[in-house]
Amino acid sequence: MTSTEERSDAGERAASPAFECRSVTVEFPHKFSRKRIIEDISFLVRSGEFLTIVGPSGTGKTTLLRAMGGLTPTVSGSVLVHGKELDGPPEDVVIVFQDYSNALLQWRTVTGNVAFGIERILERRETELRVHDALALVGLEKNADDYPWQLSGGMQQRVQIARALALRPAVMLMDEPFAALDAMTKASMQDELLRVRDRTGTSFVFITHDIEEAVYLGDRIAVLTGSPGRVDRIFEIGLPVPRDQLSTRQLPKFLEYRYAVHQAIGRVHG
Ligand SMILES: Nc1ncnc2c1ncn2[C@@H]1O[C@H](COP(=O)(O)OP(=O)(O)O)[C@@H](O)[C@H]1O
Ligand SMILES: [Mg+2]
Repeated sequence: MTSTEERSDAGERAASPAFECRSVTVEFPHKFSRKRIIEDISFLVRSGEFLTIVGPSGTGKTTLLRAMGGLTPTVSGSVLVHGKELDGPPEDVVIVFQDYSNALLQWRTVTGNVAFGIERILERRETELRVHDALALVGLEKNADDYPWQLSGGMQQRVQIARALALRPAVMLMDEPFAALDAMTKASMQDELLRVRDRTGTSFVFITHDIEEAVYLGDRIAVLTGSPGRVDRIFEIGLPVPRDQLSTRQLPKFLEYRYAVHQAIGRVHG
């Protein structure tokens, strides 16, 4: 259980939940009325936990993540960060979106992009240190002076993740961040993210429509289904750590979880 030890060394954030959704409900205006998109969603995210959220498209995953990041108002319920209720985008929570090519500033180097969120609030020395650390965490030290257009899709997504990490967030919210990557790049990014979690103690909420990805990464999986979207089930994933792309994925337990999550989604939609 080395990763658990590393986690508590690195983070040392209180054992209280890092994040909490209490009965979160979101509605949008729709044809002179309102449409309920997600309803009564409640769950906790523990400190250093990797929570994956899986569900068919259109069930409100992005809406939920935006509500968690304080970008979309809730009609009822509340979102709490370290026990404090949100009333806007919180400082120590960052969102990483799927569309990395639009997220990066093409006229800035990798270093410039990673520094972007912190350079105005921190001293130069601290900014440099954080950029260096963040690039090391995602394995991009050698590309510090490159421009985004010189990088592959996977590397550009790493830059976006490094920019988020440079903020040293307590919670990282990710919306299908690897959906556009090829299978090999996706696998190495998954492992990188788990290593980042182990080293920093950051909590992750990671949305995906890829059930295998949800099982591989998750300490727990919340299944979002229906219209309005609800969290129908939360699975506790008892797979050994550290995960391994080859051996973990062929464990009978891995296949059982994969099957169970499929069932949980299919039961509502089948
Ligand atoms: N800003 C918005 N205004 C109105 N409807 C929206 C808005 N954002 C999303 N929706 C609707 O909410 C539903 C869920 O969308 P979304 O959260 O993007 O789902 P998912 O990420 O699971 O695919 C969809 O029907 C979508 O059309
Ligand atoms: Mg979405």
